[in-house]
Amino acid sequence: MPNGGGTLSGIEGETHDMKAASILDYRELARRKLPPFLYEYIDGGSYAEVTLRRNVDDLADVQLRQRVMCDVSGIDLTTTLFGAEQRLPIALGPVGLSGMYARRGEVQAARAANAAGIPFTLSTVGVCPLAEVAAATGTPFWFQLYVVKDRNFVRHMIAEAKAAGCTVMLLTVDLPVPGSRYRDVHSGLSGASGFAGSIRRGLQAALHPRWAWDVGLMGKPHTLGNVAPMLAGDTGLEDFLAWMGGNFDQTVTWESLTWLRSEWGGPIVVKGILDPADARLAVEHGADGIVVSNHGGRQLDGVPSTAQALPAIAEAVGDKLSVLVDGGVRSGLDVVRMLALGAKGVLLGRAWAYALAANGQAGVSHAIQLIEAEMRVALALTGVTNIKDIDHNILVRDRKFG
Ligand code: FNR
Repeated sequence: MPNGGGTLSGIEGETHDMKAASILDYRELARRKLPPFLYEYIDGGSYAEVTLRRNVDDLADVQLRQRVMCDVSGIDLTTTLFGAEQRLPIALGPVGLSGMYARRGEVQAARAANAAGIPFTLSTVGVCPLAEVAAATGTPFWFQLYVVKDRNFVRHMIAEAKAAGCTVMLLTVDLPVPGSRYRDVHSGLSGASGFAGSIRRGLQAALHPRWAWDVGLMGKPHTLGNVAPMLAGDTGLEDFLAWMGGNFDQTVTWESLTWLRSEWGGPIVVKGILDPADARLAVEHGADGIVVSNHGGRQLDGVPSTAQALPAIAEAVGDKLSVLVDGGVRSGLDVVRMLALGAKGVLLGRAWAYALAANGQAGVSHAIQLIEAEMRVALALTGVTNIKDIDHNILVRDRKFG
């Protein structure tokens, strides 16, 4: 494909192809390409998906002030996060199982991030292990850690992350127990384990031959690469959420952060903060950053959107650490909104996962290009030329977002 976009083939009976023009187009392309058990896993949230919808809707409600007659001929989007300069104030956040959406998906996404000059974050529960991503990209990336019950294994993963040259560790703390995701039960990812589950997923794969060839056949092994040694032969893809529920350490406290800091030695970013009190505790316990996150509406349904939670958290911690955010970001406009609400950087989640599923590395590169182009327009039309100058002054004040 010429410049990396996916195509939306017309609805049945039509012959034209339409190029993806937005992240939402990539969502639709992903829906068509993936077997439902994988598409619903990416797209869905927990319980009634109230928080998932709030993340998207609240961001859309953040109104920007249009300013004119400013010289906007030179726009600077570069920023520095954890000592490293990057071309855009975004990163690819951790998305588990990405190697099931496209062949060796984590490697493809990491290459796209490198080419765009932004960080890629490898999930603990990625398909490709740390060493594979490091060997394939040769560029530093970030690692996301889930603390499992076996602390020796946590030490082992930290050692692997160091050996892979990872520069930043994201410690995800909002999943001591997995929230229930109804769509995963309905689609056959969870709840239908064993033979019945395999048959259901196999039938879905057979009806999606492009995926079946690219990933099902050519994308093996389908193991959770980083934790495969702990599973000893059992891949964990069978009722994946149940596996997480059984193996994640529910005893983690702020003291565990002190232990991890001594083991890791580099910058630690606590992912899953939604309350100013926890943000202050992160500062007290020496975190270098936080990600304001509700796990993309996949954990405690009913909590506020991240757009709503962010301003009070940013105010509570000031510049004592770097405040990142994710949740509901589907465009460059959304990135700019998050920066205006107080974030220093923004993680993409589903946005890049949809593009990866639709068109691999080229899809992720194109999705990042789309987001960059939208950011440039948003800055120009709010009259700001440097991303570092984005703050609440570009927003129309309203009661919801303080
Ligand atoms: C996630 N997320 C996630 N977070 C994490 O720390 N480790 C992980 O392995 C995963 N896995 C994962 C899989 C899928 C399919 C999704 C959609 C999300 C959460 C992710 O990092 C991020 O917090 C949300 O995706 C942000 O919300 P949006 O942008 O996807 O709406």
